[in-house]
Amino acid sequence: MKKTFYALFAISVVIFACQKEKNATTLEIHPEDLPQVNVLSPKTVDITVFDFNRPQASFLTGLGAPQSTFNNNLATLGKVLFYDRNLSSTYTVSCGSCHKQTKAFADDNRFSKGINGQLSTRNSMALANVSNFKMHYSSFDGKSPSLLWDGRASSVGAQAPLALLNPHEMGMDWKGIVDRVNALPYYKLLFAQNYGDTEVTEARILSAFSEFVGAISCQNSKLDIALNRVNGNIVGTSEEIRFTVVQHAYYGTNDTIGSDTTIVPLKDFTIQELRGRDIFAASCTKCHSPVRSFQVVFEANNGLDINYLDNGKGSITSKSSDMGVFKSPSLRNIALSAPYMHDGRFATLEEVIDFYSDGIQPHANLHPLLRQPDGSTKMNFTPEQKKDLLAFLQTMTANDISHDKIFSDPFQY
Ligand code: HEC
Ligand code: HEC
Repeated sequence: MKKTFYALFAISVVIFACQKEKNATTLEIHPEDLPQVNVLSPKTVDITVFDFNRPQASFLTGLGAPQSTFNNNLATLGKVLFYDRNLSSTYTVSCGSCHKQTKAFADDNRFSKGINGQLSTRNSMALANVSNFKMHYSSFDGKSPSLLWDGRASSVGAQAPLALLNPHEMGMDWKGIVDRVNALPYYKLLFAQNYGDTEVTEARILSAFSEFVGAISCQNSKLDIALNRVNGNIVGTSEEIRFTVVQHAYYGTNDTIGSDTTIVPLKDFTIQELRGRDIFAASCTKCHSPVRSFQVVFEANNGLDINYLDNGKGSITSKSSDMGVFKSPSLRNIALSAPYMHDGRFATLEEVIDFYSDGIQPHANLHPLLRQPDGSTKMNFTPEQKKDLLAFLQTMTANDISHDKIFSDPFQY
């Protein structure tokens, strides 16, 4: 890939703001006032404004999840910033380098490369592991999941500077970011389109990142399609009954509610996937769910180690009860985002399932849900149960997200 740098030199711009000709005012901009910065110039940038406002899956609406709305121009600006390598000091790293679309916006490397080849200390998190990023992180049902493995950010606006300014990741400072964005012609257009002027500020950049990341959305896995059908088959009943019926289909509960409602099975699910659904519902779903309303626990110690090298939340709060506590992510699109866990220690889902079957360590903070009634930490799955669980995990994955063009890299170099 050929890198083309150009410096913004002696450009003398004279702007005539004509007011009925005779009252013309002239603003002269002197070259020495313009930022003298190097930028990496792409051959082309696709700034097509896509519609990020897609209707939410009906079953999610039925479960009370709010439909998020997006400003399409702002999300487009956010997308360009997300993929722009000019936002790293060495022009080599963008948000998209560590959050790859083909990997549900995670990284297939155990640790990600920041500037100068420096490696991150944690595995990059999938941004497409939620039905909709903005909805998932809103507090619509009184719960507010936090961001990052140790929960130290509460929004994309708080998280993005951590990557941009981190000397191992993108290595910038705000003046450098603003100067580069100012020097790149495509941002003139994008800022004008959003704000009516071309002023580049930290707040504007952060709100664009939030709008684009917030719009990342994926709601057409096999499980979504089946749950939509369950929801659709019971139109006309009360919200409460619909909620219960969808919940029962998801949990595999085998009974009927009311006199005129029958439980609708999950369409096109194989017997194996249904058995996997039952294992997932019994052993996993309280801490992980592709449906936000069904997740109860959002952070936990899941017994990876007795002595953690990285103590997660505990390294932020220093509380003994937080040692080894990490974010418990939703497992939507989980088949795309290997390797797994905060340090990417498991290369495959089979390894993850083996760990939950036989490898959970009795750490003092191990979450009670991971202890069996007899005190053991082993789930002891049979080889068949392991295959069933794996088959169900695949039904939560929608491969479209990996090439959905509205989220794709707009740059060509
Ligand atoms: C060098 C690789 C790298 C770059 C560049 C990077 N990230 Fe990340 N990202 C990570 C890692 C690693 C984590 C987990 C970090 C942690 O827990 O400490 C993460 C976590 C996140 C999260 C939290 C997701 C969740 O579910 O909690 C968001 C959001 C995010 N990144 C967005 C961005 C944005 C926006 C940018 C660009 C401004 C960016 N990242 C740049 C590697 C990177
Ligand atoms: C008590 C809550 C809890 C239960 C129950 C639980 N997990 Fe987890 N899980 C976690 C936490 C916390 C993490 C992150 C741990 C870390 O990285 O240190 C995690 C991580 C994972 C990951 C990796 C996610 C990623 O993006 O890297 C997978 C896959 C997973 N769990 C699958 C399962 C399965 C399958 C089950 C049921 C057999 C299960 N979990 C049960 C809390 C739980």
